[in-house]
Amino acid sequence: MVILSSNLQQRLRSPLTIGTVTLQSRVLQAPLSGVTDRAFRQLVRRYAPTSMLYTEMVQATGVCQAQQLEKIMDIGDGEQPISIQLFDCRPDFMAAAARKAVAEGAKTIDINMGCPVNKITKKGGGSSLLRQPEIAEAIVRAVAAAVPVPVTVKTRIGWDDDHINAVEFGRRMEAAGARMLTLHGRTRSQGYHGPARWDWIAQVKAALAIPVIANGDIVSVESAVRCLEETGADGVMCSRGTLGYPFLVGEIDAFLKTGAVVSPPTAGERLRCAREHLGLLWQYKGQKGIHQARKHMAWYVKGFEGAAPLRQRLCQIDTVEAGYELLDGAIAQLETTAGLGEAIALVAP
Ligand SMILES: Cc1cc2nc3c(=O)[nH]c(=O)nc-3n(C[C@H](O)[C@H](O)[C@H](O)COP(=O)(O)O)c2cc1C
Repeated sequence: MVILSSNLQQRLRSPLTIGTVTLQSRVLQAPLSGVTDRAFRQLVRRYAPTSMLYTEMVQATGVCQAQQLEKIMDIGDGEQPISIQLFDCRPDFMAAAARKAVAEGAKTIDINMGCPVNKITKKGGGSSLLRQPEIAEAIVRAVAAAVPVPVTVKTRIGWDDDHINAVEFGRRMEAAGARMLTLHGRTRSQGYHGPARWDWIAQVKAALAIPVIANGDIVSVESAVRCLEETGADGVMCSRGTLGYPFLVGEIDAFLKTGAVVSPPTAGERLRCAREHLGLLWQYKGQKGIHQARKHMAWYVKGFEGAAPLRQRLCQIDTVEAGYELLDGAIAQLETTAGLGEAIALVAP
C-alpha cells in the first residue's frame, strides 16, 4: 500500500510556481509526439483538471513557414494550463515561433533538448543541444526575451554514460533564463531503455533554484511517490505510462492532494474511454485520425480475456463505425461477465 508521508505532503502542499505562472498540480502530462494531440489531451484534462498539458513537439522552422502552424493552433477550450513545446537549434526561429505560440494561448514555452531521434539531432536540435550548451543557452535567452510567458526546458541527463552533464547543463539553462527544468533520467544513447536514473535528478534538483520536474518511469502512484521521495523533485511528469491510460496524471494528482488511492478503471471503463478517444480522433482529424487511432486502441486493449484478438482487429480498422462495433461488442461482453460475477457473489453462501 502506498503511503503519503507527512513530509512529502507538506513539501508538495504549496502550488508549483514557474516564473509568473502558478500551477495547482505538481503532476504534468508529458509531450508525446504522435500522441498528445487535442483528442488525447481532452481525455487527460477530464481526469486531471489542473495539471499542465503539453502539445506534441513542434518544429520552430515549420511554425515560421506555416507548415506546422495548425499544430499549435489546435488548442481547444478548457485546455489551460497548456505549454507548447518547440524544437530547433536556431535561436531566431525559436523566438519567432514562440511569439506565435503565445498568441495561440501557450501558458509557457517549453524547449525540447531531449529528443534522441537522429533526424532531429543531426540538425542540431533535441538532445544534441546537450553537446552544444552555448547554443542551448542562446536559444533560451532569445525565447525568454521574445515572449512574456515563462520559458522551460526539457532535457536528459547527458549524451551518453561518458558525458553526463545534467548538473552543469541545468545550471547554464537556469542562468540563461529557464524558469523550470524537466529532467528525463536517461542519456540520449539509452533512448527509452533501461531504468531512469533518478539519482541524477536528485543531484540536479539539489543544484538548481528553479523547479525541477522528474521524468522517466513514472507509471503509477507508487512510482511517483518513490521518485518524489528519492529525488526531492518539485513534481513529476508522466509519459509512456499514459499510453492507453489517460487516467494516470489524475490518479497521481488526486493521491498527492488527498492521500487516497482512486480505484483504477475496470476493463470495461478503459474500453469506453478507448471508444471516446476514437470518436474524438475522427471528429478532429477525419480519416487520418482513424489510422492514428489504431495504435491507441492497441494500448487500451489489454489485461482481459479476449484482448489479443480484439487488439488485432482494432489495429486494422478503416472506419469509425468498425471501431465502435468492435468496442461495443467487447464492452457488452465484459459487462455481462462482470454482472454475472456480481450475481454469483450475491448468491454465494
Ligand atoms: C512515443 C513517444 C513520443 C515522445 N515525444 C516527445 C516529445 O514530443 N517531446 C518530448 O520532450 N519528449 C517526448 N518523448 C519523451 C517523453 O516525454 C519522456 O521524456 C520519456 O518517454 C521518458 O519517460 P517514461 O520513461 O515515463 O516514458 C516521447 C516519448 C515517446 C515514447
